[in-house]
Amino acid sequence: MKQRILSLSNLKISIGNTTFKNPIWVASGTFGYGTEAPDLIDVNTLGAIVTKSITRQPREGNPPPRIVETPSGMINSIGLANIGVEKYIKEMLPVYKDFSTKIIMNIAGTDIDEYVEILELMEKISTNIAGYEINISCPNVKKGGMEFGVDSEMTAKLTEELRKRTDRLIIMKLSPNVSDIVSIGKAAENAGADAVSAINTVVGMSINAKTAKSNIFTTYGGLSGPAIKPVGLAAVNKLYNKLSIPIIGMGGIVSSTDVAEYILAGSTAVQVGTANFRNPGTGENIIDLISSYIKESNWKSSVEMIGKVQTYNK
Ligand SMILES: Cc1cc2nc3c(=O)[nH]c(=O)nc-3n(C[C@H](O)[C@H](O)[C@H](O)COP(=O)(O)O)c2cc1C
Repeated sequence: MKQRILSLSNLKISIGNTTFKNPIWVASGTFGYGTEAPDLIDVNTLGAIVTKSITRQPREGNPPPRIVETPSGMINSIGLANIGVEKYIKEMLPVYKDFSTKIIMNIAGTDIDEYVEILELMEKISTNIAGYEINISCPNVKKGGMEFGVDSEMTAKLTEELRKRTDRLIIMKLSPNVSDIVSIGKAAENAGADAVSAINTVVGMSINAKTAKSNIFTTYGGLSGPAIKPVGLAAVNKLYNKLSIPIIGMGGIVSSTDVAEYILAGSTAVQVGTANFRNPGTGENIIDLISSYIKESNWKSSVEMIGKVQTYNK
């Protein structure tokens, strides 16, 4: 592993009781468990790695085809394929011991008990995981996932149950596939979440006109990539205007300009997702560029920029 540790003072952020060397993270499901990447990039430059969603039992996910390219994006319907929490603890946690980047474990479940059981298993052992991102927004599974993310009462109940059991960060990951993302975010905040992250993928469909067939086995999947950046920016800004806890923004980030826009909209940190499939070093490359952008634009820090977009109605 390369040992280039960046410490760019204008990029330091904190969320709850935890500080991060910078606000550039990689998004769940686009960076594996974080353990594959050291051969490809210097993971320790990143502010944090968010793991793919981990469930109580191993999951094979949905049958193929489960990924298709779309204009400026892709649709996926992976269906939370993962090795399950026990294997995750055994095989992945030891690898993190050498990491100086923060690890955020993403958890998914079909009911409150499953989320709780996973978190309790994690809290029982000694680990250097900084916190949990709670996936209540997966559009690609029949049970659980998004059922929580579309209902503020369920979101509050789940957040509350998890909050009781950990002092580590709890980040509730919100869905854009709702009529009022702010009410779900507020429910998470009131129930004790340290932050919310937004957005998960946008429900989409892709059809092959030649064969008249759906390009995705599950018919609908989750759209990601540059196509959804405007949806992500709006979600972040709406949340920023009504919540007091930090917002972690994502959706279509490929460049430092995208990151600047997300911070101006109200993000304390951002996550790079789909862009990792083209180049897993996208996040790493952005870190130096955003630090220079901040200096050149006469901001003191990324923190000073948060939510400072000038809108016409303010
Ligand atoms: C192939 C793929 C797999 C994903 N898997 C997960 C997952 O396991 N858990 C989760 O919370 N989000 C998952 N996501 C959603 C991303 O973390 C992110 O919220 C979304 O893709 C928007 O960011 P982007 O446009 O930069 O990709 C996945 C996205 C993609 C493209």
